[in-house]
Amino acid sequence: MDKIEYALITGASAGVGKEMAYMLAKKQKNLVLVARSERVLEAMQKELQDSYGISVLVFAIDLSREGAAQSLFTFCQEKMFVSLLINNAGVGAFGESVALGTSVLPMLYLNILSLTELCAFFGKEMKERGRGSILNIGSIAGNQPTSFFASYAASKSYVLNYSLALRHELRPFGVNVTCAQPGYIRTGFDDTCNIKSEKYKRFSYKNGMSAKNVAKKALAAVFRKRSFVRIGFTNKIVAFVSTFIPRNLLAFLMSKSIRSMTK
Ligand SMILES: NC(=O)c1ccc[n+]([C@@H]2O[C@H](COP(=O)([O-])OP(=O)(O)OC[C@H]3O[C@@H](n4cnc5c(N)ncnc54)[C@H](OP(=O)(O)O)[C@@H]3O)[C@@H](O)[C@H]2O)c1
Repeated sequence: MDKIEYALITGASAGVGKEMAYMLAKKQKNLVLVARSERVLEAMQKELQDSYGISVLVFAIDLSREGAAQSLFTFCQEKMFVSLLINNAGVGAFGESVALGTSVLPMLYLNILSLTELCAFFGKEMKERGRGSILNIGSIAGNQPTSFFASYAASKSYVLNYSLALRHELRPFGVNVTCAQPGYIRTGFDDTCNIKSEKYKRFSYKNGMSAKNVAKKALAAVFRKRSFVRIGFTNKIVAFVSTFIPRNLLAFLMSKSIRSMTK
């Protein structure tokens, strides 16, 4: 008997991931919800199963740890075929790179290594079956060097370039890979980055999109099999204009802008 199909969302307990879970449930997709907050996921599981009559499985795990992606894959492999993988879990780290020191390593593990492992594990099965989709959530910050967000922004550059390269490896085998690049989103993200500046937080809130809107646009890009999508009109313009600016100048302008906002 063929395995039942599921969509798997990492970072499903809050923000964009949570919104995507509700949107996919409305489309009658069975779901695997992944994050660390087990109780939140279990509450969502009950609500989504009761409201939409779908199957929802919960896997609580810290994806910033070695071996976590493998455990998640093993859990899924026995029970289902994951035909849509959404690598959404991600955190940031704000501050001077030398002051942050090695505290950024778990963030890099989550944003880069676990995402890569999950793409490899689930992408292999999709390739063998000749179908499937992967959505990786990057960031508009991944388009340029961003002082005070240096390693976070660089991790999102990785997400974009890795996703585009993977797309062209898997495309001939019927598997789609999309990277979504949102800008500011009104979620708990700024708090997890440990941003203290009220000025910065006000700016990010004022210019932020809702998690619902971002989730809708990211999923639409997947259903249209787009290679990548920059989410938000201003973000699209800024990203386009910045392609004409020399990278070192861009890095200088970004450092000036963030420094002034955090003073
Ligand atoms: N918010 C923004 O301004 C913004 C802008 C551009 C891009 N993005 C990207 O958008 C994605 C979603 O962000 P968001 O704004 O929705 O953030 P959020 O509201 O803070 O949600 C983050 C999600 O990731 C999960 N998570 C965090 N650390 C984890 C870990 N170690 N292991 C497993 N799950 C973990 C969290 O759940 P638990 O705490 O329960 O584990 C939560 O479900 C991220 O990749 C982020 O980089 C955000």
